[in-house]
Amino acid sequence: MTDPHLAVIVLAAGEGTRMRSRRAKVLHPIAGLPMVAHVIATARHLDPAHIEVVVRHQRDAVVGAVEEYADEAIIVDQDDVPGTGRAVELAVAALPADFDGDVVVVSGDVPLLDAVTLGALVEQHRAASASATILSAVLDDATGYGRIVRDDAGGVAAIVEHKDADEAVLAITEINSGSYVFRVSALREHLPRVGTANAQGEKYLTDVVAMLRAASDPVMAMPVTENWRVAGVNDRAQLAEQAARLNAMIVRGHQLNGVTILDPSTTWIDLTVSIGQDTEILPNTRLAGATTIERDAVIGPDTTLVDCEVGEGAVIKRTDATLAVVKAFAEVGPFAYLRPGTELEGGGKIGTFVETKNAHIGRGSKVPHLSYIGDTEVGEGSNVGAGTITANYDGVNKHRTTVGSHVRTGSHNVFVAPVTIGDGAYTGAGTVVRKDVPAGSLAMNVAPQRNLEGWVAANRPGTAAADAAAAAAAGEAAPTAE
Ligand code: UD1
Ligand code: CA
Repeated sequence: MTDPHLAVIVLAAGEGTRMRSRRAKVLHPIAGLPMVAHVIATARHLDPAHIEVVVRHQRDAVVGAVEEYADEAIIVDQDDVPGTGRAVELAVAALPADFDGDVVVVSGDVPLLDAVTLGALVEQHRAASASATILSAVLDDATGYGRIVRDDAGGVAAIVEHKDADEAVLAITEINSGSYVFRVSALREHLPRVGTANAQGEKYLTDVVAMLRAASDPVMAMPVTENWRVAGVNDRAQLAEQAARLNAMIVRGHQLNGVTILDPSTTWIDLTVSIGQDTEILPNTRLAGATTIERDAVIGPDTTLVDCEVGEGAVIKRTDATLAVVKAFAEVGPFAYLRPGTELEGGGKIGTFVETKNAHIGRGSKVPHLSYIGDTEVGEGSNVGAGTITANYDGVNKHRTTVGSHVRTGSHNVFVAPVTIGDGAYTGAGTVVRKDVPAGSLAMNVAPQRNLEGWVAANRPGTAAADAAAAAAAGEAAPTAE
């Protein structure tokens, strides 16, 4: 149920220079979703009456992503005044004037912070009737972070930024994680009075803590138990670390749900993927996007599936597939490349070194070896011979190939589209099918074979081939190869 007295502000205006990227930091994905989408999902779990996202750097791109994942979010544009204090000040001003309650502040670059931790923070804040409650962490190396300065009684006195800290403060190991809960009245009262006279010339949100303290308003700090949950992503190395942590959790979740995953460290599964019971995922497999896999399938090794649908009991080995549908008990690979629009019906097969695109392959039909099948419809129970190419492109336009049901096509065929091969038809090996083949006929257009006897002896004298031919003529075994 929506909590009318709760708002969440997601800070996402910063530049993220250390990513060295043309993409906004919060748009870098982990587990298939931009970091800011993870933070928004966590915010939503708190059921706040308002979610606000503060933007500035790469504004339009960030807004686009926010709207995709949370169209209810209020976008707040930060102005020229830099700093987290200014960001929150503008976000608070954008809340309804009669909003009364608590404001959770989180950063868009802390993707693993979970709703359980934040929920506990809000609960403790409310139980203590605090004006502010800081999510803190105790770190071996606190370099770069704002330090939590406590008084002799253990109460929170201030947060001092690393760049503004003296020796004594730098020795403090309890840091500000950058997530907090504030009573909105405390922010309304104090943020306008926060200045920029500090090492970075920014309006610090953290200055509010000392101001509350001076006004004798209670401020609490709650240390997290798992520091990685509050770790921010500032560069690509940290991006990879957090991605690996989240992936490990996702893999484990599927394992506990009844999916066999042989090698968690080389299996990458997006948050958006679903996998049925007793499916087996073999090493070096990546399952991405809107991929869904039913029960009892076997996927991998060395397989990437992006936005694919896989039916019960299907087997997909060493395959790269995007926007493909593989129905129940069908088989794919090893070494198959399924491009968008591939649909393999139940019990069908797309085999070794086969590429498909916009191809619907009917129930029980097989394309087993060395083929390119594009813009094609294959009926049921047909077999497309080894080494078949659909010549679907005339240099300007793409054309369709239609293969009926219970067709048997020979090896090394070219189907020059547009062309139709009727139900129950056959084609000979090496046929270039340029004309429609009527149902039940055999098509062939390869010239009759001529054997020129004695040609090797006459034209290639002294070669190993000539020697072997001579031995064969004498009824002897061929000479052994060198
Ligand atoms: C901030 C805290 C610091 C804390 C650290 C935790 C302040 C002054 N300091 O420092 O105590 O230990 O986070 O990581 O808050 N942002 C805006 N607008 C701005 C500036 C930043 O929206 O003008 C956003 C950033 O995009 C980011 C978040 O605020 O998501 C934190 O900003 P950042 O510059 O990383 O703050 P730190 O200096 O790390
Ligand atoms: Ca930071």
